[in-house]
Amino acid sequence: MSTNLRVLLSAAQIKQRVREMGRQIDADYASGPIYMISVLKGSFIFMADLARAVRRPVRIDFMGISSYGNGKTTSGEVKLTRDLDISIEGQNVLIVEDIVDSGVTLNYLLRLLHQRNPKSIHIATLLDKPERRIRPVDIRYTGFQIPDEFVIGYGLDYAEDYRNLPDICVLSG
Ligand code: IMP
Ligand code: MG
Repeated sequence: MSTNLRVLLSAAQIKQRVREMGRQIDADYASGPIYMISVLKGSFIFMADLARAVRRPVRIDFMGISSYGNGKTTSGEVKLTRDLDISIEGQNVLIVEDIVDSGVTLNYLLRLLHQRNPKSIHIATLLDKPERRIRPVDIRYTGFQIPDEFVIGYGLDYAEDYRNLPDICVLSG
């Protein structure tokens, strides 16, 4: 396992930005609950913090989508590994992602969830690597745009390691 880590975004920077995103979301939604859907597993920490940064009523659920093996690049293949428990029909849905990379995962997820007739559907992602996009994704809320480097921590993993790091770090080597 590599131990070559460089802090890209500190826990304090992330906390500040998540608070701002929560305020923005509060300002944008009129009434009724926001159905926040976390894409497992990478977004679990961001989801927990963003949900608490939002003051409006929130309902949460989780989806499992896998497009990555244990490597650093997409397999291009997307698989639904866990579906929602709740119905999103007629609801305001906010998909909560850790990072948008190729866009393959969210492009698939958006098409899937649109078929269930939500009232609205938007994306909040903590990180965006725009250089890597191969499928278009319309993102409403972005925490940070980052360069094309592999990052871990704050929920993000490399082969299931490092998810509990409080900072987001670049993993090299
Ligand atoms: P996409 O389908 O290529 O946009 O991939 C999105 C998913 O790939 C994310 O939700 C992450 O789980 C994973 N991923 C992409 N880039 C990174 C990274 O730099 N570190 C850790 N996971 C990543
Ligand atoms: Mg993910």
